[in-house]
Amino acid sequence: MKTEKEIHQHRKDEHLSLAYKYWREEKNQTSGLTFSDSRIIPNSLPELSTEKINFSSEVFGQNFEFPFYIEAMTGGTERADKINRQLAEIAKNQHLAMAVGSQSIALKFPELSAGFSEVRKIHSSGFLFANIGAGHSLENAKRAVDMIEANALEIHVNTAQELPMDEGDREFYWLENINEIASQLEVPVIVKEVGFGISQKTFKALAKTSVSGINIGGAGGTNFAWIERKRSKNGFNLDEFGLSTLESLLEAKMADNRKSLIATGGITSAQEIFKSLILGADLSSSAGFILKNLMQTGPEKVEEVIEQWKQDLNKLFVLTGSKNIEECRKVELLYSTNMLNFIQQRK
Ligand SMILES: Cc1cc2nc3c(=O)[nH]c(=O)nc-3n(C[C@H](O)[C@H](O)[C@H](O)COP(=O)(O)O)c2cc1C
Repeated sequence: MKTEKEIHQHRKDEHLSLAYKYWREEKNQTSGLTFSDSRIIPNSLPELSTEKINFSSEVFGQNFEFPFYIEAMTGGTERADKINRQLAEIAKNQHLAMAVGSQSIALKFPELSAGFSEVRKIHSSGFLFANIGAGHSLENAKRAVDMIEANALEIHVNTAQELPMDEGDREFYWLENINEIASQLEVPVIVKEVGFGISQKTFKALAKTSVSGINIGGAGGTNFAWIERKRSKNGFNLDEFGLSTLESLLEAKMADNRKSLIATGGITSAQEIFKSLILGADLSSSAGFILKNLMQTGPEKVEEVIEQWKQDLNKLFVLTGSKNIEECRKVELLYSTNMLNFIQQRK
């Protein structure tokens, strides 16, 4: 008979294996809009040089040199801690921020917190996001932040992940708790979806809270409903559920979102990061794609990909005559008819 701790750890390791498998073999396109539904209008006379581009982003009281970071994935098992150490090295070398995976496991079994703290030891001066679920108390939020001396806290909202899990939560009264944590905690709090997108209604509900940022975690990348279905084999299918990352960015605009905005969910290129910035994101992040590259080809390859993205993003800024993020927000996008349709319906 497995202990509660072993069951929790087993789930963490299964998430890693299935997220990897999903990206490798079964990445199916979301039924929603993708970044290919928008095209960038070029500027043939940019009056700029690649040397003059500054794509750094000021968010959460910090300057992010490159507007991208490694999103929350794991921690709390031997395998997970090793992955976090590798991710922390990559983040340190590439001057990126990084989020650790849910720290619930270490809050429950404090002997597992050393693996999480290791990330801070490696990336000693980096911007780190702590991560907990929305049902945790303010006390636990503080413990999670202290565990890694975090600069910000991500609170994940994952109803569509919990419901397909046989052992998942069934009660979701979160808003008041999130607001309490956000108003009392000393670091900025970000509410984070995990792959199903954020609607106008949710943006508006969060507008009334003290949270500093919203991570849209849209559909189109890692699909936790798929992962949990594979784990539990109960057949609850949410393949066509949720808003894609692009759709959530449009929802943010239509809801007149004023909170800092993070675009996550299937980000696999500099062009997608760039389009996210044009559509109002302050930062963007990836989980599954980074994990796939790390597991398939190792940390050096991940660093190569990130180096390439930095160069590509620089060139995209030049191609559109944008010196900085403020100017890139003025770049025009051509919308597909599906995109126009979406906007018309959702206005
Ligand atoms: C293996 C794995 C584990 C994850 N665990 C967490 C977690 O513990 N907490 C969390 O907020 N998000 C978690 N996520 C979700 C990601 O942070 C992200 O929101 C989601 O995967 C969408 O981004 P992607 O399409 O780039 O993977 C996890 C993702 C992966 C791939």
